[in-house]
This record gives sequence, C-alpha cells and structure tokens, in this order.
Amino acid sequence: MNSRKITVVGAGNVGAATAHLAALENLGEIVLIDIVEGIAKGKALDLSEAGPVSGYDVKITGTTDWSVTAGSDIVIITSGLPRKPGMSRDDLLAKNTEIVKSVSEQIVKHCPDAYIIVVCNPLDAMVYATSKVTGFAKNKIMGMAGELDRARFCYFVASELGVSSLNVQAILMGGHGDDMVPLPRYSSVNGAPLTELIDPARLDGIIERTRKGGIEVVNLLGYSAYYAPAAGAVKMAKAILQDSKSLICCCAYCDSEYSAGGYFVGVPAILGNGGVEKIVTLDLNESEAALFKTSLDHVKSLTEKIDSLF
Ligand code: LAC
Repeated sequence: MNSRKITVVGAGNVGAATAHLAALENLGEIVLIDIVEGIAKGKALDLSEAGPVSGYDVKITGTTDWSVTAGSDIVIITSGLPRKPGMSRDDLLAKNTEIVKSVSEQIVKHCPDAYIIVVCNPLDAMVYATSKVTGFAKNKIMGMAGELDRARFCYFVASELGVSSLNVQAILMGGHGDDMVPLPRYSSVNGAPLTELIDPARLDGIIERTRKGGIEVVNLLGYSAYYAPAAGAVKMAKAILQDSKSLICCCAYCDSEYSAGGYFVGVPAILGNGGVEKIVTLDLNESEAALFKTSLDHVKSLTEKIDSLF
C-alpha cells in the first residue's frame, strides 16, 4: 500500500479528474474535499467503485472536514470559479482570491508540511496568494499551467505535422494568459528543431491558438477544460512524490532567474522531492526576452492587485 497522501481541494470537474488520474497512477491515498458534502462524498464513492474495473485500490475519501486532510504530502487546489464564455481568467481574481485565502488558512492548520500545487485562475496570482497566506517555503508552492499550455502547443504542432504528439517536445514560459510564451527555438520533434519543420507563419498560428487554448474549450463546452489541467497537476504531483527530477514547465518563484524580481511565473523547473528544486534558466534572445517581459509585467500587475485585496 502506498503511504503517501494527496488532498484535492474542490470536487468539481478539475478536482474529480485530478483524483481519478492520481488513483490510476497509484500516487497514494486521496482526500477529495469540497464545501458541498454530497459532491465530495459522491465523487469519492464513484471513484472508489471504478477501482476494481480500472485496477486501482487506493483509499479515496470525500469530505467537508479539513481534519481528514491532516498529514497530506501534497495539496492540489482546484477550487474556485471556472471561466464562462466571455470571461477572461483575470475576471476571476477577486472571488478566487477569497476562496484561495480560506483554503490556504486550512492548509496551514491541517497540512503544514504539504507541497501545494495551485490550479485555479488567474493562475500566477493565485499561486502568489497561496504563498502570501501560508508563508510556506517558496519551493513548496507552485502552479500548474505551463504543462497544460505546453501540452496544447505540442498537440497543435503534432496535428500540423501529422506526427505523434508524444514525439513533440516544447518549452513554454510566462504567465497563464494570452501573453504566454511558447519557445519554438527550444522545441522539437524528437530532436528535429521545430523552426526547421514548420514555416514561421504556420508557427505563429499555432502559437496564437495555444494562447487562446483555454477559451477555445470554454467556448465549446460552456465552462473550463478539465482533463488536460488535471493531467498537468497529476504529472507535477507524481514528479514530487516519486522524486523524478522532471523538467516541467510550471509557475514557480523566480527572483534573479529571468530577472523576475520575486514573482511566481511560468518557467521550466526541475521537480522532485524538494518540490521546485531548480529553475532552469535558458538563454532567451531579444524577442523571446521581450515577450517574457510583457507576460511577466501582466503577472506583476495581477499579483499587486492581490495585495490590495488582503
Ligand atoms: C485553461 C484554464 C484551466 O487554460 O485556465 O483551460
């Protein structure tokens, strides 16, 4: 039996998909916590009943009671309002700050040793809010967005080239917003540089579609994506729990790195049992650096709004 414990906060679409993937990966015991008891308990029961079919046997508890989360190794925060058509991620700032604040207070009380992976939007600002309330070491707090955006980029590249999406590698930086920065120069199809495989105009189209990847799903579904976000969160949790030292694009605290000056923003980082163990600093050319600066400036302005809300 795996003795690790993962708490997933929020039993909505992202939370339930996260719990499901974590169970399939046998990451450990799972606690699904929500303010609505029936949803947390009902989804936990349904997920437990899927175990004998899917081949997992992990304890999955649905609860509204934070004391059940005690001793969690990782807390994944998915709670918060999702986007609806016509909304930007930034429109969620005030409401989701309140939610993240109260969740973070519970984490301090019940899971003081946990690593925290934030998934709710606006992502980079919510990671900051979590850090501000918990006061946890910066390497213990991170956000899932880069992996999702990177995966979207890889999928679009694969579709364009007619290759397996599993053969596409990419790096994507910046905040989780329309000014995110995919880096074609650091992307390839099994080592063949992307810049040689796709002409610049097609590449620009793919970058634009990646930047709008979230709203494309919202416009189809009527609400936010959840399978791919959950997959990103579970990949990060797995890297930490299994100490795999994986390079994952995620929102992490950067100070001198990329001259960020003490902000949480999307960068490539090594994740292992020390959480964010290292920020990978790549040489950016002039135009990449300018794009990253624009995105970072946006993250900074949202982050500063958090300070005015507390
Ligand atoms: C997205 C939301 C989760 O990008 O931000 O789909």
